[in-house]
Amino acid sequence: MSVLLLNLLFNTVVLNLAVLAAGEDEFVFSGFKGANITVDGVATVTRNGLVDLSSGQETLKGHAFYPAPLRLRESPNGTTIKSFSVSFVFAIYPNYRPSQGMAFFIAKSMDFSSALPTQWFGIFNSVNQGNSSNHIFAIELDTVNNRDLHDIDANHVGININSVISNKSNTAGFYDDKTAFFNTLNLTSGKGLQLWIDYERESTRINVTISPVGVAKPARALISGIYDLSTVITEDAYLGFGSSAGRDGSRHYILGWSFGINRPAPAIDMKKLPRLPRLGSKPRSKVREIVLPLATTTFVLAVGITIFLLVRRHQRYAELREDWEVEFGPHRFPYKDLYYATQGFKNKNLLGVGGFGRVYKGVLPKSKLDIAVKRVSHESKQGMKEFIAEVVSIGRLQHRNLVQLLGYCRRRGQLFLVYEYMPNGSLDKYLYHGDLRPTLNWAQRFKIIRGVASGLLYLHEEWEQIVIHRDVKASNVLLDAEMNARLGDFGLARLYDHGMDPQSTHVVGTIGYLAPELARTGKVTPLTDVFAFGVFILEVICGQRPINQDTQGKHPMLVDWVLEHWRNGSLVDTVDTKLREYDVNEAYLALKLGLLCSHPFMDARPTMRQVIQYLDGDCATPEPSLPVDTNFEMLAAMQNEGFDPYVMLYPSSTASHGAASIVSSGR
Ligand SMILES: Nc1ncnc2c1ncn2[C@@H]1O[C@H](COP(=O)(O)OP(=O)(O)OP(=O)(O)O)[C@@H](O)[C@H]1O
Ligand SMILES: *[C@@H]1O[C@H](CO)[C@@H](O)[C@H](O)[C@H]1NC(C)=O
Ligand SMILES: *[C@@H]1O[C@H](CO)[C@@H](O)[C@H](O)[C@H]1NC(C)=O
Ligand SMILES: *[C@@H]1O[C@H](CO)[C@@H](O)[C@H](O)[C@H]1NC(C)=O
Ligand SMILES: *[C@@H]1O[C@H](CO)[C@@H](O)[C@H](O)[C@H]1NC(C)=O
Ligand SMILES: *[C@@H]1O[C@H](CO)[C@@H](O)[C@H](O)[C@H]1NC(C)=O
Ligand SMILES: *[C@@H]1O[C@H](CO)[C@@H](O)[C@H](O)[C@H]1NC(C)=O
Ligand SMILES: [Mg+2]
Repeated sequence: MSVLLLNLLFNTVVLNLAVLAAGEDEFVFSGFKGANITVDGVATVTRNGLVDLSSGQETLKGHAFYPAPLRLRESPNGTTIKSFSVSFVFAIYPNYRPSQGMAFFIAKSMDFSSALPTQWFGIFNSVNQGNSSNHIFAIELDTVNNRDLHDIDANHVGININSVISNKSNTAGFYDDKTAFFNTLNLTSGKGLQLWIDYERESTRINVTISPVGVAKPARALISGIYDLSTVITEDAYLGFGSSAGRDGSRHYILGWSFGINRPAPAIDMKKLPRLPRLGSKPRSKVREIVLPLATTTFVLAVGITIFLLVRRHQRYAELREDWEVEFGPHRFPYKDLYYATQGFKNKNLLGVGGFGRVYKGVLPKSKLDIAVKRVSHESKQGMKEFIAEVVSIGRLQHRNLVQLLGYCRRRGQLFLVYEYMPNGSLDKYLYHGDLRPTLNWAQRFKIIRGVASGLLYLHEEWEQIVIHRDVKASNVLLDAEMNARLGDFGLARLYDHGMDPQSTHVVGTIGYLAPELARTGKVTPLTDVFAFGVFILEVICGQRPINQDTQGKHPMLVDWVLEHWRNGSLVDTVDTKLREYDVNEAYLALKLGLLCSHPFMDARPTMRQVIQYLDGDCATPEPSLPVDTNFEMLAAMQNEGFDPYVMLYPSSTASHGAASIVSSGR
């Protein structure tokens, strides 16, 4: 195998590196693979051994030379040129425009720097026409009919002496040996053609013959002329080919070449000639011209897209993290986790919209834990550190009637609070959306009230520090899988309390649950929570919202309505009509406790510990010591304290569903 390869290689080398040594007078190239051929300009030798003179380039010169000068003169100062014979196989590929031609030449040097492309074949120029100091003998294969240069047609062969204007030319073709008919040959057919040049010393006759590859050299020459080349060919003669494409991208290939002095040019081995590229196929350099830029563009684009995606990914998951957060690390969720958990905060995962923001359901990717993520928009950084510290400390609160806060995450302008998920949602939906959820029975309602009371007691008294909920209401009471009440959103109202102008009193909470003294003092205490809890009890028992705009002026506040029934001794009439059965004693107790807790005077309200005792029946519930004045109304009391009745009765449409803040100027 390797022997065969070596053999093959050896043969090729021997054939192709046939450089004329001193004294030798012939050469033959049957293909140019590994050949010692000098090329310049756009000319190249292709991998399979074709000399590609123009490489598909436009208006650029290309030359191929025999690497060493040859001696064609009889003697240095002699007046005769030896007989010589040249033969070569070439092919010109057509293009959509007329292809420029090519030429074989014998010149005084390899320097064609002043020559021009296109119709000058890369060997002449516009000013040196006919100048005898050119010392160029050429055979042109002209494929453009240029009248200025006396061309006969667009497909001719010519003998050129020092000029691009031929001394003699003829349409390309050959005389059939048998019939003697002239057969025209198409120079730009892309097919291999063989050309012979024979110069005879004595007669100074130049014969040019051409035939298709496969047809033996015709006996009759195409052009035969007399011209003494002794004034043209110099002592050192350089043989070669020149071409230049016009703006057409045509191509000129040399497949084989042979030369002999005082003898016919040796036969070119037609079997060894390199294969021509398929006509019409994209030439190889087109690969470089089109595919390479395309590949480069694609690559650059791919890199660009990758960077873009990485940047977008970075932005998508970018978080806001500050040094002080290090200590809260374990409570911090990576944004990426929350993003995946909620499927990119998709609307289908939206649980509800509250006063602070949207709440999404999610499943943590690793632990598969169900979570509810509350997204709060928060631009101000002020008080954030304190708030996060509080969130984290709140996260340590654990009670069976509280929604566990699992952690948080921060992004620019956004804060995420992660809670455990409550499968049965919030209580308000059971109370007011009867069509969506079943009505809760008496036992469930009583248990919920007891549960919320227990959660509040834990916040107020049983933890290491006093935590005030600030937003006790039905929508913040969530129901777990066993329908246990779980108080949520504790402390969140704090977020909006920070950084406020101390001159004004900022009250955050939900209208209808706000204790009257808040307007005056602006100070939240456990007893303001108790007030809201009282309203909450009435809400659960009566199945009505704390502020009811439908009652048209008469007792828009639930408290006042219940109060009137209490004065009239018809307290149990206020129990939710949707309840078929209820425990009358428990109903009395709950309603009285509701009134007691939502007492306008904070000192008259019980503590949560007392509330638990009353609910458990450990102590008798005292009668609410409300003003005997039958004209007393909570609404009036609230107005007295400075609440704007308009804001109270006609809160913005969202206020009935979420938190609203009332800012009243401090006094
Ligand atoms: N942990 C949770 N599990 C299940 N659903 C929840 C959870 N937290 C909130 N939700 C749902 O999301 C809704 C919106 O809650 P959000 O707390 O934002 O609003 P709100 O309670 O109506 O008002 P506020 O902003 O005053 O708390 C709730 O009504 C409830 O249905
Ligand atoms: C090619 O031929 C030239 C001239 O004969 C010579 O100087 C050069 O060394 C040759 N190169 C190779 C690679 O044979
Ligand atoms: C050839 O001619 C040149 C100049 O005409 C002259 O210098 C040189 O000696 C001549 N050489 C021979 C060998 O005659
Ligand atoms: C011919 O070319 C030579 C060298 O370029 C120049 O010196 C000379 O003037 C030219 N002759 C004519 C007639 O243009
Ligand atoms: C060709 O060259 C010969 C010899 O120099 C000359 O007589 C003849 O006029 C030339 N013909 C043309 C067309 O140039
Ligand atoms: C030569 O052949 C090419 C390719 O087949 C063709 O496009 C062109 O028209 C032909 N030219 C002539 C003069 O027939
Ligand atoms: C040149 O061609 C003529 C006519 O075809 C022929 O008679 C002559 O022998 C040829 N000369 C050479 C050197 O081929
Ligand atoms: Mg809430």
